[in-house]
Amino acid sequence: MDDEVVRAWRVVEREPGVVLLDGFHALKHALRFGGEVRRVLTADRGALLALAAELAPDVVAALDRLAVEVPEPALRQVAPRPHPTGVVALAVRPSAGANAAALAARPREAPVVVLENPRNLGNVGAVIRLAAGFGATGVVTTGDLDPWHPNVLRGSAGLHFATAVERLAVPELPDGPLYVLDPEGADIRDLPFPDDALLAFGTERHGVSAELKARADRLVAVPMRPGVSSFNLATSVGMGLFHWMSGKR
Ligand SMILES: C[S@@+](CC[C@H](N)C(=O)[O-])C[C@H]1O[C@@H](n2cnc3c(N)ncnc32)[C@H](O)[C@@H]1O
Repeated sequence: MDDEVVRAWRVVEREPGVVLLDGFHALKHALRFGGEVRRVLTADRGALLALAAELAPDVVAALDRLAVEVPEPALRQVAPRPHPTGVVALAVRPSAGANAAALAARPREAPVVVLENPRNLGNVGAVIRLAAGFGATGVVTTGDLDPWHPNVLRGSAGLHFATAVERLAVPELPDGPLYVLDPEGADIRDLPFPDDALLAFGTERHGVSAELKARADRLVAVPMRPGVSSFNLATSVGMGLFHWMSGKR
């Protein structure tokens, strides 16, 4: 019986567009924001439903329908290091076409965050969580990192399902005024961000490329104390989005 459950999981796992949700919060947000959740495995169904009743009553009914209990070793076959909440799930990500259309749609009421060639999966997850929280239109990454990697989904707590997340090449970036965040730019306090802005951020080690800077409408800096060379990438995105939001009153 458990072998059958694991075999069925493996079949769904290989379907195009299927992503792994590791832990309760990623699963909760996928369900809450309309993700198509295909499989849910837990080592303790009762504990999972109790956790949902306490933290997210809106998803209890869906979990009751979807969650299948398997012994710990079977869970470890599909998730070798299960999340402390003891639940793992498979969901279908929105199609690249739907995301690209959402990112390009005009008029745009909230910025698109652009991460140029990010390297750190945790940073990208944190940025997606910020974008979802601030109500940004979405997050575009360039470069080879997969923004739907399981560790990014874990870092975003599944909030990929609450904003449009897509990897694009630089020439495919959506239209809109390009505000590039860079320590050498003009003081952010003098520049409100328009709702349709693209807010672009550089890679963790090397910062923004010359190519992206050349395309910028504005280069913008968050002032720092002398001697400090830069802020962390996700922190910078948080400050940029907060700056946009605080100009909206
Ligand atoms: C860790 S930093 C990159 C550090 C890189 N050595 C540099 O000098 O830009 C990652 C990104 O965060 C953003 N960032 C960091 N500090 C910033 C600041 N003070 N003002 C504006 N953007 C900043 C930039 O987009 C930067 O490319």
